[in-house]
Amino acid sequence: VTGGFTVAIDGPAASGKGTISRALAAHFGFAYLDTGLLYRAVGAKVLDGMMPEVAARQLEKDDLESDALRSPEVAQEASRVAALPEVRAALTDFQRSFAARAGGAVLDGRDIGTVICPEAQVKLFVTASAEVRAQRRYAELSGKGMAVTLEQVLADVLARDARDSTREEAPLKPAADAVRIDTTELAIADAVAAAVKLIEAAQRR
Ligand code: CDP
Ligand code: CDP
Repeated sequence: VTGGFTVAIDGPAASGKGTISRALAAHFGFAYLDTGLLYRAVGAKVLDGMMPEVAARQLEKDDLESDALRSPEVAQEASRVAALPEVRAALTDFQRSFAARAGGAVLDGRDIGTVICPEAQVKLFVTASAEVRAQRRYAELSGKGMAVTLEQVLADVLARDARDSTREEAPLKPAADAVRIDTTELAIADAVAAAVKLIEAAQRR
């Protein structure tokens, strides 16, 4: 893939990838793709009775808009369909073309630095303790009025991390050249500032 400047951001559930990615995209004027939404949209269609491979091949922009994609049920189904090679293959070209945009792009997910954009100019692996991640996601979901408990959210996060890390195809793991950012005790602004420095340094190279 040739094209613009690509920032690849991977990490486990609710580590802060999306928040950091959006801030970086705004700062540098890059386009942003939340690749988790693609798998969530396929998961939602499967919960509605569609075959995963068919759902992945037929995915359209409108399918990514629904608020329901944020529910824990959809997140679990996303993680299940994400283990299927046919589903991942059907979503690869779209992600790679997005990454190659002339104006620069930030993509976040699980396999961006390892599989989708191994040539990305900057790769980050964002982590935080499971307890802190569950607390943050719990605050987010309950703030949206969803009926969840902290215990359920922690169980959801741990189950997805385990499935995502141990699957055969494109497992969740840091690329060899990824910079780790642990946000357990790091404020969003500090995480973003660290990432901005890394990107600026890469742009000068
Ligand atoms: O995209 P990902 O699932 O990795 O996480 P996120 O949606 O960016 O972050 C999950 C929640 O944690 C959001 O409500 C963020 O505002 C919050 N967060 C935080 O409190 N401190 C951080 N350093 C990073 C994220
Ligand atoms: O926001 P959060 O980190 O909780 O989840 P997400 O990024 O929306 O991803 C939902 C699920 O999609 C993950 O648990 C993974 O199983 C899958 N996924 C993936 O396999 N590869 C990606 N590049 C992005 C998401």
